[in-house]
Amino acid sequence: MTKRYAVVLAAGQGTRMKSKLLKVLHPVMGRPMVQHVLDQIKPVVNSEIVMVTGHGANQVQSEIGDQCSFVIQEEQLGTGHAVIQAEAILKNKEGTTVVVCGDTPLIRQETYAKLIEHHEKIGAKATILTAHAPDPTGYGRIIRNAQGEVERIVEHKDATDDEKKVTEINTGTFCFDNKLLFAALKGISNENAQGEYYLTDVIEILKKQSETVTAYVTPDFDETLGVNDRVMLANAGAILRRRINEAHMRNGVTIIDPQNTYIESGVIIEQDVVIQPGSIIKGNTIIKSEAEIGPNSEIINCTIGESTVVSHSVAKDSYIGARVHIGPFAHIRPEASIKDEAKIGNFVEVKKSTIGEKSKVSHLSYIGDAHVGSNVNVGCGTITVNYDGKNKYLTTIEDDAFIGCNANLIAPVTIGEGSIVAAGSTITKNVPGDALSIARARQTNKEGYAARLNKHKKD
Ligand code: UD1
Ligand code: CA
Repeated sequence: MTKRYAVVLAAGQGTRMKSKLLKVLHPVMGRPMVQHVLDQIKPVVNSEIVMVTGHGANQVQSEIGDQCSFVIQEEQLGTGHAVIQAEAILKNKEGTTVVVCGDTPLIRQETYAKLIEHHEKIGAKATILTAHAPDPTGYGRIIRNAQGEVERIVEHKDATDDEKKVTEINTGTFCFDNKLLFAALKGISNENAQGEYYLTDVIEILKKQSETVTAYVTPDFDETLGVNDRVMLANAGAILRRRINEAHMRNGVTIIDPQNTYIESGVIIEQDVVIQPGSIIKGNTIIKSEAEIGPNSEIINCTIGESTVVSHSVAKDSYIGARVHIGPFAHIRPEASIKDEAKIGNFVEVKKSTIGEKSKVSHLSYIGDAHVGSNVNVGCGTITVNYDGKNKYLTTIEDDAFIGCNANLIAPVTIGEGSIVAAGSTITKNVPGDALSIARARQTNKEGYAARLNKHKKD
């Protein structure tokens, strides 16, 4: 089988982004642009992947880790000069080298596969991935001869007015015969409008050597979009968002308003889930069948069980079981574990706590560092007082306990099984099972006192 290598160009600063963050690290739907490129190219390459870094090389390497090898382009003298840096690793190897830009995050694995197949089937020495752009401004143009064969690529800044009318553009993605690529790169110069060593000049060099040079035209221009500024970054995000949402809808997920729903690519959603408008679902999230998310909910790295409803709420790094009801306006913070059929109502914050099966925390409560058993009722306004300014302490509420409204449970403390805490209590000591605990000032009624005061006011 032919050896296939890849060179990913990621050394540019991306000046047009006007950003401290390197262009290829800007996220598109939550993942750095260059990570999208790697995700799609890895499955079609069976040998080395070399990434060319320069500006912010350390940042790129720490983000990408050991997914590929790296070479450094000290000065950004152009895309051709960038590929030459990979020579140290790829020189003298037999096979096909795919060159991709780190700023084209939407090209799919299938398209790379078709490009390689076309290249290898024809036995070409160079194949360009091209597309027809509705507005080709800024892209390199594909110049063909009278027979329709690819002759060369001309950069926008070097093109004549006639050449600028060509709508077939260079997507920046190529397949090359590896050895011929590095040989041809020896012949490029920087005598052009940008004073750069262009990779695109290799096409004309190979053509002049009578090597077979072809193009594979992909029908979907959107996929080849190169991100150079933040307008294109938003366009890329919108295209990827639509692609992800459409895949979920085809899989049996109802998305009420796909334009207004943001689901990152790693998210798993089962059938008959309904996503209401304004929802953002990120990271390693799994949503089980028939759950309903939104409207206006943000879910990050959570498991959401079957038939659970999360409305107008935020949940992060947590487990939420089946048939749970969350919200509206609840905040589920990291390390919460909310078991089946529990209820977390409005203005409730849960942090690093377990809420047992069928337990209810329905209104205006803070539950932090707590273990709440099953069938517990936590009344409105209850607070687990977990922090003394230095340390955090645990609260345990055992099964079937009933906590009256506006109780303060000063941790560390245990509320025993089946016990009742009276409303308004501030509990500082453990409550035994089945006990009733009242910890509040006694009420005194002064008969007729209000009437006397009121009379006084009128006089
Ligand atoms: C490049 C192509 C153009 C094509 C377009 C597609 C050339 C000369 N031009 O233009 O034909 O239509 O992509 O999007 O190849 N890079 C380096 N080192 C450098 C210069 C660039 O690593 O010295 C990297 C950048 O980080 C980027 C990629 O190469 O990921 C493309 O560079 P960019 O400056 O964006 O090229 P374009 O002007 O878009
Ligand atoms: Ca570009």
